[in-house]
Amino acid sequence: MTVENTDMGIVVRAAGGPEALEWTAVNTGSPGPAEVRIVQRAIGVNFIDTYFRSGLYPWPSTPLIPGAEAAGVVAEIGTEVADLRVGDRVAYTMPLGAYRMQRVVPAERLVKLPDAIAFDVAASVMLKGLTAQFLLTSCFPVKAGDTVLVHAAAGGVGLLLGQWLKTLGAISIGTAGSPEKVAIAKANGYTHVIDYRTEDFAARVKQITGSAGCDVVYDSVGKDTWRGSLKCLKLRGSFVHFGQSSGMIADFKFSDLASGGSLFATRPMLFDYIKSRAELSSRAADLFARLASGEVKAHVGQRAALRDAADAHRELEGRRTIGATVLLP
Ligand SMILES: NC(=O)c1ccc[n+]([C@@H]2O[C@H](COP(=O)([O-])OP(=O)(O)OC[C@H]3O[C@@H](n4cnc5c(N)ncnc54)[C@H](OP(=O)(O)O)[C@@H]3O)[C@@H](O)[C@H]2O)c1
Repeated sequence: MTVENTDMGIVVRAAGGPEALEWTAVNTGSPGPAEVRIVQRAIGVNFIDTYFRSGLYPWPSTPLIPGAEAAGVVAEIGTEVADLRVGDRVAYTMPLGAYRMQRVVPAERLVKLPDAIAFDVAASVMLKGLTAQFLLTSCFPVKAGDTVLVHAAAGGVGLLLGQWLKTLGAISIGTAGSPEKVAIAKANGYTHVIDYRTEDFAARVKQITGSAGCDVVYDSVGKDTWRGSLKCLKLRGSFVHFGQSSGMIADFKFSDLASGGSLFATRPMLFDYIKSRAELSSRAADLFARLASGEVKAHVGQRAALRDAADAHRELEGRRTIGATVLLP
């Protein structure tokens, strides 16, 4: 295959629905002194990709090449790159632009992949697994015996959180949107799982916890769940709002934290927790060790060709996916 043949990717020229994802030729270029060109083997799909595509999040440049997570092989290195070689297996999360067959990335954002971690697994955990890692260790450090509520428990991040919480000895309550998803979340570590499309999750959490409530709620659904989430918290509990798959929270007030029982709230972003090379490396090492030991397993529920990214977005936004989705170039 010539270099020209591999210069294909997904481009968005104007914000819109999945149909805005256009399979087209892209220009890869050559790496600068501190950069590396990689040939990508697997690309992760994340809900954040839909926020950028739809225009909910501002674009760094126009047109947009979406995608924030991928794995592949180093094909060319810049003159100042000392710790990587052509042929190394690597993975990254960010910068944006992963929906393409090959690309140039800053060498400092790459981590070397242990041999045991396949490309599709790596492309499903660099963003989602590092998110589970920072949420559980730094955002609200969960300890044995804590009661934890996680929404979208059968999703990409959700299945990783369930398994990880089990290893921490937490009592975990997941919510999921169908009987099939409830069963999969239960099989992935959650102590209890509530179908929040048919049940009032806040009432069920009250029942499960004997009215004690949760130490922390990890809420990535947003608009449809945040009010119920606050009701699920103990006095001085923590509301970790890390995504908005149902839409942005528009009407939250600081006084909601007072009336909920002196609650704490944060709206964290992974990229603020892996800004430095040292922090990225140590969080990735923790994640890879848990994958290697089998404590946490990646669940790639869907695979699609990169050129069919639009279908993958339709499935994700339609709540029809389980675990992670990976695009194959
Ligand atoms: N802050 C950060 O740094 C960070 C990092 C990574 C991910 N995130 C966030 O974490 C969340 C999970 O990401 P993911 O990529 O793993 O996605 P995902 O959880 O696999 O997919 C989103 C899930 O949200 C649920 N959902 C509830 N209401 C929905 C609605 N109206 N439309 C669509 N989905 C709805 C669906 O599960 P049910 O059918 O079970 O309800 C759906 O499967 C996203 O909100 C994402 O933005 C944040």
